[in-house]
Amino acid sequence: MEIILAKSAGYCFGVNNAIDSVEKAIKNFKNTNIYTLGPIIHNPQVIKKLVSKGVKSINDLTEVNEGVVVIRSHGVGEKIIREAEKLGFNIINATCPYVKSIQQKAKEHYKNGYQIIIVGNENHPEVIGINGWCDSEALIIGEKNKVPNLKKYDKICVVAQTTITEDFFNDVTKEIKDQNSNVIVFNTICNATRERQEETKNIASKVNCMIIVGGYHSSNTQKLVIISKKYCKNTFHIESKKDIDIDSMNKFKKIGISAGASTPNWIIKEVIQLMENQLNDNEEEQKEVHESYEETFKSFRRGNIVKGKVLSVTENELFINIGYKSDGIIEKKEYTKDLNDDLTKIVKVEDEVEAIILDLNDGSGYVKLSKLRVDNKKAMQEIVNVFNEKRTVEGKIIKSVKGGLIVDIGFTEVFMPASQYHFKFVKDLNTLVGEEVKGKIIEYDKKKNKIIFSQKIILEEEEKNRREQELKTKKEFIDSLDVNQNVTGKIKTIMKYGVFIEIGSLDGFVHISDLSWGKVKHPSEVVKEGETVEAVVTNIDKDNFKIKLSIKDLTEDPWTNFRKDFSVNDEVDVEITNILPFGGFAQIIPHVEGLIHISELSHEKVNKVDDVIKVGDSVKVKIIGIDEENKKISLSIKESLPPIVKEIEENITVYKEDVNNTLGDLFGDLFKDD
Ligand code: F3S
Repeated sequence: MEIILAKSAGYCFGVNNAIDSVEKAIKNFKNTNIYTLGPIIHNPQVIKKLVSKGVKSINDLTEVNEGVVVIRSHGVGEKIIREAEKLGFNIINATCPYVKSIQQKAKEHYKNGYQIIIVGNENHPEVIGINGWCDSEALIIGEKNKVPNLKKYDKICVVAQTTITEDFFNDVTKEIKDQNSNVIVFNTICNATRERQEETKNIASKVNCMIIVGGYHSSNTQKLVIISKKYCKNTFHIESKKDIDIDSMNKFKKIGISAGASTPNWIIKEVIQLMENQLNDNEEEQKEVHESYEETFKSFRRGNIVKGKVLSVTENELFINIGYKSDGIIEKKEYTKDLNDDLTKIVKVEDEVEAIILDLNDGSGYVKLSKLRVDNKKAMQEIVNVFNEKRTVEGKIIKSVKGGLIVDIGFTEVFMPASQYHFKFVKDLNTLVGEEVKGKIIEYDKKKNKIIFSQKIILEEEEKNRREQELKTKKEFIDSLDVNQNVTGKIKTIMKYGVFIEIGSLDGFVHISDLSWGKVKHPSEVVKEGETVEAVVTNIDKDNFKIKLSIKDLTEDPWTNFRKDFSVNDEVDVEITNILPFGGFAQIIPHVEGLIHISELSHEKVNKVDDVIKVGDSVKVKIIGIDEENKKISLSIKESLPPIVKEIEENITVYKEDVNNTLGDLFGDLFKDD
């Protein structure tokens, strides 16, 4: 057997409020008589309990002299309230705010010349009470009396008893409008009633049996019975579990349960428990039903967090269905921090909202809610989490304040001192507004309400990671290199003494002397910045990440070639490359030059070198000396020429070889190291 319980079953907001008022009165007025003007609700079981606590129900104020009088949720006419005040009763007005609102509509429109029509039961205390706010001059149209001729009225205002059926109200208003065009209609059927009726209809249409729990005299319960019977012929109206004929229930596979607005939860629970225990053998199903009614009876108290869907929204407030007897209301200041916001722009009907209950009655019958406080609560929890987990969060700088910046990190706003923004100093913090940042909460003190956000800590971490990564990459790179390995890179910097080449993640250095086998006065003669070159690794200093390279070592040493092809006494054609006072330099092969000392230019005495040779001249010379160690070559033009035959004067020494002469004696400092 399956049991379906209506979520809307049980006390409505107004009834709950009235019962609460009586309970409070019992607590607050210990030695005072407490009366309710008429039964507080149409439920004998509840009334019995209250009587046991000393609460008496009276029908008229004349019945008693003093004490506390609680006006029930149905309300009373204005005159009765004034009279009670006059008689000095302590009045607790527990009229349902929805009903109060109808009373005010009736009063106001009556004052403005409208004929008031109340669609409802003329004997119902709520209807009598509403009528009492328009001098009991209202026309009352119920199920038993037809709509009278209304043509004589200039203007008509129609209101509804809160618990009548929607269909009936629509039928009546249509008839009224057909007769008179000047009609204002207020559909004041309580939403809780509407929902309860709708849900009862839905459940009744899909079960085999329907049980409606509620006082036999309760108008709204009776309406539920009528609706249910339309859709389920096996509808039973009971006041409590005692009224259930449990044996006759056995034949039903699916049983629906709904209850009137004045039925306390404990009576509904008793009914369900009886049905479960007697009819359901299946433990799973029992559990399901149990969970379902626990959900239905979930408490709606101040401080509870509830969820609901937006029913309607205005610029300054929104209304949400929270699955309670009354809808919730959220004022703008309880929804957003920015009071310039227009709620219609930021909230849509059907949006889901989570909010905390501030008050079960905001004075107009709505449950007063705050989304902002839930957001704040969540934000504080999230701050604790972010702080404890040292989590990085992103945000946007929304304004600058004294000493720092306010950053919106999505769920809340936090303070970032100027010193925590960056390593760099920022003169005008206003220039940072709008900038996206990321950071961590580095300080959180709930007691002092102190939250410090820092971007700098992230930048420092990033910088540290970057350095570590860079070091790792450099290390991997340098470890991958070997001496004599060829590398390719771009000329990054040219200095007087050499060049730096970017190779992989490091720079290698080529000394000017390693650029070319030839003489290089400045590296820019050989390479250009940005040019891609090849070089060979000549030295690696792994500790200091220094790499020495050579470009010239990519080619063979011209000296080697020279030595392969030339020897002393070889005659060779050379080109004069440089003239100096003591001789001229001549290129033998590319990058190999020899010196023709002034004394070797001619057999004749030569005063000036350029009297004999000029830069660019091609001359034949003889190799007269090779200094292997210092890679220096002595050349002679003179020796390549035929000797001059001269008549030698007797006893005159023309030439005497001095065996102790050295190359230094001959060439001075020319062949000394630079
Ligand atoms: Fe009020 Fe609606 Fe209940 S009018 S008393 S909340 S049924």
